[in-house]
Amino acid sequence: EIDLSADLFGQTLTSPLLNASGVHCQTKEELNDLANTSNLGAMVTKSATLQAREGNPNPRYYDLENGSINSMGLPNLGYDFYLDYVLQEQTKPTILSVAALSAADAITLLKDLQASDYQGPTELNLSCPNIVGEPQLAYDFEATDRVLSEVFSFYTKPLGVKLPPYFDLVHFDKIAAVLNKYPLTHVNTINSIGNGLWVDIDQEQVVTKAKGGFGGLGGTMVLPTALANVRALRQRLNDSIKVLGTGGVTSGADVFTHILCGADLVSVGTQVMKEGLGVYDRLAEELKDIMAEKGYQTLSDFRGKLKEL
Ligand code: DOR
Repeated sequence: EIDLSADLFGQTLTSPLLNASGVHCQTKEELNDLANTSNLGAMVTKSATLQAREGNPNPRYYDLENGSINSMGLPNLGYDFYLDYVLQEQTKPTILSVAALSAADAITLLKDLQASDYQGPTELNLSCPNIVGEPQLAYDFEATDRVLSEVFSFYTKPLGVKLPPYFDLVHFDKIAAVLNKYPLTHVNTINSIGNGLWVDIDQEQVVTKAKGGFGGLGGTMVLPTALANVRALRQRLNDSIKVLGTGGVTSGADVFTHILCGADLVSVGTQVMKEGLGVYDRLAEELKDIMAEKGYQTLSDFRGKLKEL
């Protein structure tokens, strides 16, 4: 019997699969759907900002043959709503995702969270590519260091970060050196590949409205980038920092490769948009089939054991 159980900071999950933050996790209804989804081991809320946001104008999500492009702009019901949800309504292990439009907002939000009754895991999104005029914070290593230094001067609850993809080994070294200074529970890698552009050739125009059509890429096309980020960060981060792999998962084989590269848990975003929440049953079955064929019984039999040539 194949065992897909995984660990979320001390809680045992029946599956290593998560939703990627942003996908089907904005409203109470959507969150309850996730709670009732089989083979979804834990769930992640839409990144919450201090104030509720409408997000960017439509169209803001566009389905592509090999993935997706989005320019949602952090539409969310506001931090109070998601805090309430995890405190009052939660029935499945949940990661509370929070985002900040400024460093000052991040501090305000996390100070409130520190003072709250919430003791569960939180993930600070340092990588949203779709806010007009705002950079992806984690591309600025010094700014990331300053924010985390201030956060950990008062924050004592489980906290991880959501990272953007990096593309240079020097950048992996730099971000890992910053992250290793702090008692982070985890990194979640990758957010969408920011500021891609898709062109509708018939219309000779872009496919999403905000930012002139520049938006975050997800789905199959980002899988190699996601695997590289999982692998490179696993090789550089302290063992105490877990790596949550996100990006490009459409099959059980993709889940397997994320874990082989070092992922502790694996999230699915674009494929949930394409296929619906039934995707988790399919992925779990496909993963079990691969493990059976290879003679593996648990995820730790192969986690991080990618071979080099
Ligand atoms: O691709 C993304 N879209 N990543 C984020 O972090 C936020 C989201 C959005 O709301 O734009």
